[in-house]
Amino acid sequence: MILTGANGGVGSIMQRMAPRYGNISLLPYAKNELDITDADALALCFNRAKPQYVLNTAAYTNVDMAEKDPAAAYRLNAGCLSGMVAACRECGAVLIHLSTDYVFDGKKLSPYTEDDRPAPVNEYGKSKREGERIVLSYEKGVVVRTSWVYSLFAKNFLAAIPRLLAERKEPLYVDSIQVNSPTFAPDLADALYKLAGQGLASGLYQYTSEGGGCDRYTFATRIRELMTGGVGSSSGIPAPVLPLTEDAGTGGAPRPLYTVMSPALIGKELGLDIPHWEDRLVKFLRNEI
Ligand SMILES: NC(=O)c1ccc[n+]([C@@H]2O[C@H](COP(=O)([O-])OP(=O)(O)OC[C@H]3O[C@@H](n4cnc5c(N)ncnc54)[C@H](OP(=O)(O)O)[C@@H]3O)[C@@H](O)[C@H]2O)c1
Repeated sequence: MILTGANGGVGSIMQRMAPRYGNISLLPYAKNELDITDADALALCFNRAKPQYVLNTAAYTNVDMAEKDPAAAYRLNAGCLSGMVAACRECGAVLIHLSTDYVFDGKKLSPYTEDDRPAPVNEYGKSKREGERIVLSYEKGVVVRTSWVYSLFAKNFLAAIPRLLAERKEPLYVDSIQVNSPTFAPDLADALYKLAGQGLASGLYQYTSEGGGCDRYTFATRIRELMTGGVGSSSGIPAPVLPLTEDAGTGGAPRPLYTVMSPALIGKELGLDIPHWEDRLVKFLRNEI
């Protein structure tokens, strides 16, 4: 299986977990080794390796920057996928592509399913939705939407919470408005390996942890409780966590307020026992995969 964007948050975990899946040989390519906007390079690479699967984790993931430069986001999240599909078609590979809960507008009051209508509210979401369309137009295209992917190898706010709580003296104010599904990255990686191992070859799926989602304040509060109880490597008293109940007015991209997704379909299809998000926090703090 060829892996693009191999040094990103999801790509790094895929690489670390590769030894567990001996039946799948992972060929990781970081951005400097394979630029997904270079259609000729993709065709050459795929034709040489003749993979059964290509897992594309490369993407433009900065939501606020995408609002300022939608063309750049579109180029990486959608435009270049036509070249990737063409290269996959030429060698017969299944293309697994990751997408996001931000394809939804957040107006629903219960978990989104694959049957719900996408209606992105920001440029990142629009570019990712267009990417989904391109991949799903390929007969061997698989799209897996995910959200709030965290591990100690990721570079996002959820991943940074343990360090922030350990280092800060003053309270950490955390957003309590946006509700979403945290996803422990190793669980997502396991699902992606199983997807390839079981030969799934087309369709739209959603993978997140179970549990109905939460806001970031609740997530941070649970982490603080565990750290206070001695879980994880830090010593000392973690900083207090306080809720931010108003839009901080950062001038960034608009966000959908509720984008919890149901992972029931992929769970059934692959026979996965999908954990509750709270049940993964101890592993997270202990940096286990
Ligand atoms: N993380 C989340 O919470 C989350 C939530 C929903 C959906 N997703 C989706 O999951 C996928 C993986 O996300 P992630 O968290 O792993 O993202 P990430 O950490 O930002 O990784 C993306 C990787 O793509 C690389 N890249 C950028 N331009 C490239 C190019 N032209 N060619 C090849 N590689 C390139 C980046 O390299 P540089 O850093 O050097 O630019 C980076 O290593 C994305 O499709 C994302 O939309 C993630």
